[in-house]
Amino acid sequence: MVSLRWKDDCLFLLNQVKLPGSVEYIQCKDYRRVAEAIRRLEVRGAPAIGVAAAYGLLLGAAEIKETGTGFLEKLAEIAEILRQTRPTAVNLSWALDKMLDAAKETSREKDSRPQEILTVLEMTAQFIMNEDSNVNRRISAFGASLFKDAKTVILTHCNAGALATVEYGTALGIIRELWKEGRLDRVFADETRPLLQGARLTAWELMQDEIPVTLITDSMAGVVMKNGWVQAVVVGADRIARNGDVANKIGTYTVAVLAEKHHIPFYVAAPVSSFDFSLPDGSAIPIEERSANEVTHCCSVPIAPQGVAVYNPAFDVTPNELITAIVTEYGILRAPYNKSIDWLQSQKGGK
Ligand code: MRU
Repeated sequence: MVSLRWKDDCLFLLNQVKLPGSVEYIQCKDYRRVAEAIRRLEVRGAPAIGVAAAYGLLLGAAEIKETGTGFLEKLAEIAEILRQTRPTAVNLSWALDKMLDAAKETSREKDSRPQEILTVLEMTAQFIMNEDSNVNRRISAFGASLFKDAKTVILTHCNAGALATVEYGTALGIIRELWKEGRLDRVFADETRPLLQGARLTAWELMQDEIPVTLITDSMAGVVMKNGWVQAVVVGADRIARNGDVANKIGTYTVAVLAEKHHIPFYVAAPVSSFDFSLPDGSAIPIEERSANEVTHCCSVPIAPQGVAVYNPAFDVTPNELITAIVTEYGILRAPYNKSIDWLQSQKGGK
């Protein structure tokens, strides 16, 4: 199963809003449809929206009539529209900046010929997509090495799987690796209110691969841990600050507090593109707030009195002291995170 693919100059997105009821792909022929898909969560998950935005920008570039600096200015405007779709996952900006840099570089070298810039943009988007698959395999191998028990039970929150990436996944990549090695007993998947990514996506994705999964509501995570049924928590990330504070799906912080209380290791799995080296700590991470409807309704059915006040942040920040380790494609980071994240930055060569 792939969450997105590029074919015949169109971006095909697996419509995640329709899962698990039906498997349908959305055909995006222009960047506006890609922006809409990201906003509506038809494509979601930090790495997947980065790749979708890269292809969205490629589609936008193909529409530009101007040449020279006019081309680059228009391209930057389209990138801004795509960037504004969702503010928390830094992979979105990371991918768009990579595309803009490639366009600028080519226009300097090749004297601003739009066709050549388009070719380079397509190669760059393809690279970002392929790189995501490779990176997930490396994260998964490093992550699996953390587990010494013959059989492990892992709890996860939200969906950091193939659906949230190009394929394989980060947190679910580690789970897949352990399953392949015969070292996974079962996964507990939090349903992840309000949009139910755990119930609709993680449970579905794991069942597709016949990986044993037990679905629980978010409020059941505590008792499952207290019963001694979980050996580790593994989650993904949307943005990681320089000190190791991690923004991820709302409810992740609660799970981390519970894990500490029950002496259960709490692992974050994320590619280097999810790190924001410019932010000293998590307090500066922009947190997306979404519509009240997502809380007052469940699957379009009202579940709260009309007009009730609602607070609906889509993400929260888990402070670094609750995180046992962060698994990246370069290796496993541990506290003190300022130091290990400096090391990570040196591995990827700056930025
Ligand atoms: O709102 P979503 O569904 O895009 O949120 C997704 C998450 O929070 C994931 O855990 C995160 O993006 C990591 S995906 C590898």
